[in-house]
Amino acid sequence: MLFRSLASGISTVKLVRAGLLYRNLVVNRYCPARNLFQSPVLHHGEFEWTDPKSEDEVVNITFIDKEGKKIDIRGKVGDNVLFLAQRYGIEMEGACEGSLACTTCHVYVEGEHFDKLPSPQEIEEDLLDMAPFLKENSRLGCQITLSKELEGLCLSLPKITRNFYVDGHKPKPH
Ligand code: FES
Repeated sequence: MLFRSLASGISTVKLVRAGLLYRNLVVNRYCPARNLFQSPVLHHGEFEWTDPKSEDEVVNITFIDKEGKKIDIRGKVGDNVLFLAQRYGIEMEGACEGSLACTTCHVYVEGEHFDKLPSPQEIEEDLLDMAPFLKENSRLGCQITLSKELEGLCLSLPKITRNFYVDGHKPKPH
């Protein structure tokens, strides 16, 4: 095999990798003796495009956009604020798609809900330090997950955000 791969210009490492990939894709996936179960893959934001299954799941929130317009949204437990905003066309860019590498999902958490949120990780705090118009109630939207405790959450968008992640890159919801 080594000689053949050298002769054809394909490295042995590539052949071994290809073999492993084949084994994972074909043998593991289709071998019933192994009783493997594959759950459907959910892409970033897909969960937020599904409606609540019952009223118990519903979390009503309000966005206040850059012009001061209020937009009420029926979210659900487990929704990520960034992807939910994108579903409803709220102007929250989310340039890094929630991977904590930008500040374009910057929001102000109004009222008592700010204290109900889990404390930010250090990396979120570091990023917020670079966000324009930082306030005491600033958070990154992609780090907020809806829970029943957040019923009535009100989030205002800052006048501007700065995209230092990828120049001009504007992700679209999947
Ligand atoms: S989308 Fe980039 S940090 Fe939230």
